[in-house]
Amino acid sequence: MNRAPVNNPKSERLFELLRRAGAGSLPQRAASGASLERERGEAPEKRHSPVPVLLAPMAGITDSAFRRLCIEKGCDFTFTEMVSASGLHYKNRKTQELISISDAEKPCGVQLFGHDPALMAETVQRLFAELVSVREVAVIDINMGCPAPKITSNGDGSALMKSPALAGRIIEAAVKASPVPISVKFRKGWDEASVNAVEFAKMAESSGASFLTVHGRTRAQMYSGTADRALIAEVVSSVNIPVVGNGDIFSGEAALDMLEKTGCAGLMAARGAQGDPFIFERISAALNNENYTPPSEKERLDTALRHIEDYVSGHGGGAFADMRKHIAWYVKGMCGSNELRRRVNTCKNARELTALVTAFRDERESFAGI
Ligand SMILES: Cc1cc2nc3c(=O)[nH]c(=O)nc-3n(C[C@H](O)[C@H](O)[C@H](O)COP(=O)(O)O)c2cc1C
Repeated sequence: MNRAPVNNPKSERLFELLRRAGAGSLPQRAASGASLERERGEAPEKRHSPVPVLLAPMAGITDSAFRRLCIEKGCDFTFTEMVSASGLHYKNRKTQELISISDAEKPCGVQLFGHDPALMAETVQRLFAELVSVREVAVIDINMGCPAPKITSNGDGSALMKSPALAGRIIEAAVKASPVPISVKFRKGWDEASVNAVEFAKMAESSGASFLTVHGRTRAQMYSGTADRALIAEVVSSVNIPVVGNGDIFSGEAALDMLEKTGCAGLMAARGAQGDPFIFERISAALNNENYTPPSEKERLDTALRHIEDYVSGHGGGAFADMRKHIAWYVKGMCGSNELRRRVNTCKNARELTALVTAFRDERESFAGI
């Protein structure tokens, strides 16, 4: 396996940005060394990558409990799911809950979406005046990539790629109002006929963004097809600020491929982390050119159980239904998982969900010696 380039000054710059503003908990990166703890039956030591590896913002997924698990498995930086700037501005209680960040999930950034420069600026000011401190939130990211019709129909998310001048005013307003760096996450373009990521990146840089994340798909593609690494490479070479490559990082090899084909300063994983926070260990092993011993089914199921416990303690037992999809992802590919999924979908409370997963783990352990 090729060793990834580790001496990219923009990766160092990105590490610095992510460490700023009280996010001093960004862990030191391990120099090297094979990850053999698991083979020796020990809990694996947390390792880090030569470039920052970030957990993507994901609505309905990257809550506090999940962010904590990802940090534990070696992710360098997490984001809240996207939060409505106007919801925060008008003090919507549920929206405010989305930005509650504990120490164990730091360093963490808040992602905002909105299409009104003045409201964006007021929200950023209010955020730091009333809701969080600069020690809690390392970065504010502005979502200019979400493809969901309920977002784009209001002119938010990837709809802003069709209005780069307005997008620039939003970024400028946020930069002026914010005590922490502003980053922007966007796509390849609205559709194949209007690919404009390079021009958009230059606009975001000149508007004051500190770093950019590019998902190499158009809005029209939603999540289909493959992320365009050549396009991300063009963006990387067209701006002076760090660019994070995003799209289809489902393995350590895919992370290496993204790094080598684009020269990006950092990597961001989204769907690859669903039900698999261990992906951050795999990426770190691949980038550090280390052997990797995957977790046993027992370790994966123990992690799923901890996820349920943390989730329920944060959201209350009534919210357990949101954990169903996570459990389905954790058990994917395990023998008997279809039956477990069926039962999980009809269980009635968090206690029942925990009992089902515990029984599944114990059964798998006694039959398969996992
Ligand atoms: C369920 C789900 C929710 C998402 N929510 C957000 C979000 O809140 N903000 C955002 O910028 N992107 C969001 N995304 C997009 C991801 O951050 C990421 O850009 C995209 O999934 C491509 O990365 P991947 O190929 O590693 O999944 C979401 C994606 C998924 C699958």
